[in-house]
Amino acid sequence: MGSVTPGVTALLDDIADVGRARSGGYRRFAWTTEDLTLRDWFDGQAAARGLEVVEDGNGNRLAVWGTWAGNPGEDALLIGSHLDSVPDGGAYDGPLGVASSFAAVDRLRAGGFEPTRPIVIGNFTDEEGARFGVACLGSRLASGATTPERALALRDDDGTTLAEAMRAQGRDPRAAGPAAWLAGVGQFVELHVEQGRGLVHDDAAVGVATAIWPHGRWRLDFCGEANHAGATPMGDRKDPMLTYAATALAARRLAGDARATFGRLAVAPNGTNAIPSRVTAWLDARAADEGDLERLVDGIVAEARSAAAADGTTVDASAESVTGAVTFDVPLRDRLAALLDAPVLPTGAGHDAGILAASLPTAMLFVRNPTGVSHAPSEHADDADCDAGVDALAAVVRELAGG
Ligand code: GLV
Ligand code: MN
Ligand code: MN
Ligand code: MN
Repeated sequence: MGSVTPGVTALLDDIADVGRARSGGYRRFAWTTEDLTLRDWFDGQAAARGLEVVEDGNGNRLAVWGTWAGNPGEDALLIGSHLDSVPDGGAYDGPLGVASSFAAVDRLRAGGFEPTRPIVIGNFTDEEGARFGVACLGSRLASGATTPERALALRDDDGTTLAEAMRAQGRDPRAAGPAAWLAGVGQFVELHVEQGRGLVHDDAAVGVATAIWPHGRWRLDFCGEANHAGATPMGDRKDPMLTYAATALAARRLAGDARATFGRLAVAPNGTNAIPSRVTAWLDARAADEGDLERLVDGIVAEARSAAAADGTTVDASAESVTGAVTFDVPLRDRLAALLDAPVLPTGAGHDAGILAASLPTAMLFVRNPTGVSHAPSEHADDADCDAGVDALAAVVRELAGG
C-alpha cells in the first residue's frame, strides 16, 4: 500500500534537526529546549489533524481522535511512544512510534475509517531516563510505579532536580503523580524500532513483542585517595579507577547470556595527572529472568567488594531502578500476531509499554532494524519497513477500534 502524505519518514524528516549532535545522533533530554521543540512539533501534528492535546501532571502529552475526557471506563485505545533520546541516540527509538501513529491516523482517515472508541496518541515524557537517571519516568509516574516524592527529587548532572526542571518550563510539580486518564484507556499498543536482529532472522518487516527482560540500573561509588600521577609509586596507590576496571571485567565474565553494561562514569577530580579520589559507575544489567538478574548483580557487587579490599579502596552499591519481567497480554499479542501474520519475539529493551502493562492490556509492534544497532547514531529502519509498520498499526487500530 502506498503512503498517504506525509508518510512516516517525512514526519521523521521534519524533526531531523532537533537535538542533532556532531556524532549525527540525537541529544533530546526531558524538559530541555529540544524536548519543548518536540512537544511543539507534536502539538502541531495534532492540530493539523484536528486532534485536541492534553498534558497530564507528569508532562505526558496525549492527542485525541474522537471525544475523550479520560474518565474511568471510557476505553480509549492508546498508541504512541516517546520523543526523547539517549545521549547520541538514533532517529527511530521513540519518534518512529509517535510519527507512525500520526501516519496511521492519516491512512485510516483516507480509507474512510471512523473509530468506535477514542484513539489517543501518547508522547511519554523521559522514556530514556537520560537526564534524571530513571527510565520511563512519565509512565512510571502516571501509573504509580514510582512516587512523585522520589521522582521529583532526582537530579541531573548539574544538580537540577526534576521538580526544578519542570518548574523552569512552567509546570507545577505538585501535579505530578498517578494520572486519572489511565483508567479511561482500554489498551495500549506501542510501535517501536526493533533493538536487535530478531526480525532480520525471521525475514519479517513487523513483529509482535512477547516479553521484556527484567532489567535495572545500579550505582557503584568507588572511593580511594587522590594523589600525584608521577610522584606516587604504583604500590602506594588507592586508585578507585582500578577497582572499577576490575569490576567491569568481572561483569563481562559473569554476564554469560545476560547483559551487563557500564555506559556512564563520573570521575573526580577527572584530571589526567591525578589519581582519582572517586569513580562513580552506573551499571545497566538485564537477564532473561529475575533470579538470573539478581544473581548477576549480586555477583558483580561481590567482585567489586573483593577488588576494593585488594586495592585499599571502598565501594558502595545502590539500586536506582529495577523493572521486573514483563509478559505482554497474551490474548492481545496472539490476536495482533494473527491479524498481521507476524512473528512474535521478546526484547531486552525497556519501554513505556512495559510499565503500563501492569495497568492495562498492552502490546508492542516492532519494525525491522537491519543491523540491530540502537541507542547509537547508526540506528536504522528502511523506509519500506517503516511504511509496513504504519500499515500494521493502522490495521491494529481498525481491528481494535473498528465497528
Ligand atoms: C530504554 O530504551 C532502555 O531499554 O534502556
Ligand atoms: Mn531507547
Ligand atoms: Mn524507545
Ligand atoms: Mn526504551
